[in-house]
Amino acid sequence: MKLTLRVWRQKNPDTPGAMATYELDGVSQDMSFLEMLDVLNEELIVKGEEPVAFDHDCREGICGACSLVINGDAHGPERTTTCQLHMRSFQDGDTIDIEPWRASAFPVIKDLVVDRSAFDRVIQAGGYITAPTGSAPEAHATPVPKADADYAFEHAECIGCGACVAACPNGAAMLFTSAKVNHLNVLPQGSPERETRVLDMVAQMDAEGFGGCTLTGECATACPKGIPLFSITAMNKEWLRATRKVKR
Ligand code: FES
Repeated sequence: MKLTLRVWRQKNPDTPGAMATYELDGVSQDMSFLEMLDVLNEELIVKGEEPVAFDHDCREGICGACSLVINGDAHGPERTTTCQLHMRSFQDGDTIDIEPWRASAFPVIKDLVVDRSAFDRVIQAGGYITAPTGSAPEAHATPVPKADADYAFEHAECIGCGACVAACPNGAAMLFTSAKVNHLNVLPQGSPERETRVLDMVAQMDAEGFGGCTLTGECATACPKGIPLFSITAMNKEWLRATRKVKR
């Protein structure tokens, strides 16, 4: 396949960026999207040009590091992570626009790499339990109803990639935050800090400058792990319940 790539290039957070155009030939349909970018970078290095900076780690759809807006869609045309997207989703002769996540809470560091540490701070705000745990308990000592275990697991699948924020017209992080809140709050191990967790995480989310949710649902459509939209409603209920129980 022969492709025209229009790639966002930006030296650093303080320099304005712009799209740069590259022609790339000999792309196999079996390559992953990131492997295609590897080929581009090899060509740029041979020519003495600066390679394109982009985030990746596991390349198996697990870690959440990869993060590209491809032709206007977070993670591209398939419902998967960028690293699991393959070039068979494109046609010979295509022009592909490649941009970083666009959200003010995710400032660009360089080229296609953004700073997603705002997510870390949201997790830190409420992601721990302070109850003494001692040594690892016997797995069946705390019974968890099957429905609750499934619910927790469904939300634990969030890999924190940020596609929900990138897809949202408001740059909201409600789907991410709700996945973390619901994952922990439904389990008996998470119940001692159920109220403070949701209050603190939502407060941190707001402090980071994420936008407000208007339930457009783009987040759930873009999420490569299928975190459902009802997670947000469930978190709103948790938050309302917590405001009644905890006086601050
Ligand atoms: S590189 Fe780990 S999920 Fe894509």
